[in-house]
Amino acid sequence: MKKGSGKTAKRQAQPQRPSAKPARRPVNAVFLVGFMGAGKTSVGRALGQRLNCIFEDLDDRIEAREGRTVAEIFRDAGESEFRRAEHAALEHALAELQGGVAKITALGGGAFVQKENAALLKASGVPTVFLDAPVEELWQRCSRQASESGAERPLLQSREQFRKLYETRRRSYSKAALQVQTGGRPVEEVAAEIARTLGLKKIALRSEQGEVE
Ligand code: S3P
Repeated sequence: MKKGSGKTAKRQAQPQRPSAKPARRPVNAVFLVGFMGAGKTSVGRALGQRLNCIFEDLDDRIEAREGRTVAEIFRDAGESEFRRAEHAALEHALAELQGGVAKITALGGGAFVQKENAALLKASGVPTVFLDAPVEELWQRCSRQASESGAERPLLQSREQFRKLYETRRRSYSKAALQVQTGGRPVEEVAAEIARTLGLKKIALRSEQGEVE
């Protein structure tokens, strides 16, 4: 029998039985991936606000766990030590999502490129979104952030090195479940596109007076 073919057939009244299925609750978990300057943090924050869920930057978790900044880890222990810390932080973050936590997580630019991280993310079933923009725009954004806020990115060196690294990584990023362009677009517009495409719904918050916001 074809699925749904009995839709118009007259139904016999059935006694009410409690449903065996647990009530479905919205789980808005998403991982944002992509190169430095792609907007993972700003889009992630906007998406979190739009959906009423928590936002986390994995680099912040790494810094809290390691007790030093990303730049310090690179400087004192090298990139391989940073990747170890990054993988451990990702495992931890994924374990916390097991209970169905609604959370948007931005990964650092190299995280999804590491095969073992991509495998962990795939096994978790949580959607990954590749934020992309023309490499010159990524470079301009990172350079501006470095001069305006002193943002330290150990792998931001020269324009040529930046472009080459982007080219090397692009294929890995494109394995994400969804790809969204951020070039020349407002953060809110990008967040709205992700929510719409993944069918993410705003989580209703209850105020102290019990009203649903
Ligand atoms: C890195 C990107 C950084 C940070 C670290 C390594 C990379 O994060 O994780 O410096 O390998 O591209 P952002 O992409 O948020 O700058």
